[in-house]
Amino acid sequence: MVKTAATSPQPGPQLVLGLETSCDETAAAVVALEGGRARVLASVVASQIEAHAPYGGVVPEIAARAHVEALDRVIATALDEAGKSFADLTGVAATAGPGLIGGVMVGLVTGKAVALARGLPLVAVNHLEGHALSPRLEADVPFPYLLLLVSGGHCQLLCVEGLGRARRLGSTIDDAVGEAFDKTAKLLGLGYPGGPAVERAARRGDPTRFDLPRPLKGRPGCDFSFAGLKTAVAREVELLRRAGGAPTAADVADLCAGFQAAVADVLVDRTGRAMAHMGADGRRFVVAGGVAANAMLRARLKTLCDARGFDFHAPALKYCGDNAAMIALVGAERLAAGSCDGLDAPARPRWPLDASAALAAPTHVVGRKGAKA
Ligand code: KG4
Ligand code: ZN
Repeated sequence: MVKTAATSPQPGPQLVLGLETSCDETAAAVVALEGGRARVLASVVASQIEAHAPYGGVVPEIAARAHVEALDRVIATALDEAGKSFADLTGVAATAGPGLIGGVMVGLVTGKAVALARGLPLVAVNHLEGHALSPRLEADVPFPYLLLLVSGGHCQLLCVEGLGRARRLGSTIDDAVGEAFDKTAKLLGLGYPGGPAVERAARRGDPTRFDLPRPLKGRPGCDFSFAGLKTAVAREVELLRRAGGAPTAADVADLCAGFQAAVADVLVDRTGRAMAHMGADGRRFVVAGGVAANAMLRARLKTLCDARGFDFHAPALKYCGDNAAMIALVGAERLAAGSCDGLDAPARPRWPLDASAALAAPTHVVGRKGAKA
């Protein structure tokens, strides 16, 4: 096995090819970084949603095979759209975890092959750090900042202190918030992925009709819990069935609105508590990850920031869900700081952003994806 990077990083402007294959999006992007300013030259995302939709969720084997089939074409399209060739690049960055191991391996091995063939430095990127840095693709968001990371596999509050440095303040003790959206959508027959479908249905609904719980709201600490909320929705559906058959479209809309309002209440409560951990130099807040696309959640968190004197930042919608621009950005920032990885960098199905906190807390993880977070 080759033990070292083909090339060391060069200081100065960076032009990085990023690869993302950790879940159900095959993505490649070209990002330039000069004088601390990022510019996305191309960001291509090939979604596998249609391949997984019949199964109501992501099937790992289907995902890995689909990444193999799509990645070369997606890379070629990204380079073409950017008007660049492999010869123009200063480095290649690939997601090395956490995620579905088959998919992660496809992207990482492809990144290594490009690095070796072209004599480029490789950066093995933590997918969560990609989400964490995503607002820096388009705005100047200096460290440190408070991060609420809300996606299909994760729900965490972190103080992002610098590149590769994050301190965890809280995380879910059961389901991730996106997972709760997806499971609730499935329960209500809204299909996959659930987040956007729940948000659409909620627009027509009455959030006060059903009395749904706000798990851990008002409790000490900054952890989250969503399993009870999902179960409460299931119980309401069961009661509706017993009373007269399948829930109507109006019932579904009211349940979605109630669920979304409960999630927002919990996220605002927990984020408000985490703000107390930020010093005077860190009064910036970032919400990132797929669930950050939710307009109602963004609005509620913005209101909280205004009330507490925090600057509010959220990535553009196209950079909330999985994409390779955020991976290329982490790569470019690391290369600019003079750091890269060996060609023996491992694919890691689990890879917490804050390793020390992950060992300590939460102690009572039971969710399917909880330990990953
Ligand atoms: O970050 P992401 O693309 O993948 C992971 O790293 O997990 O997040 C995907 C998650 C899914 O659970 C999806 O249902 C949720 O983000 N999501 C949303 C919305 N759009 C996507 N949840 C709530 N509202 C949305 N508009
Ligand atoms: Zn993600």
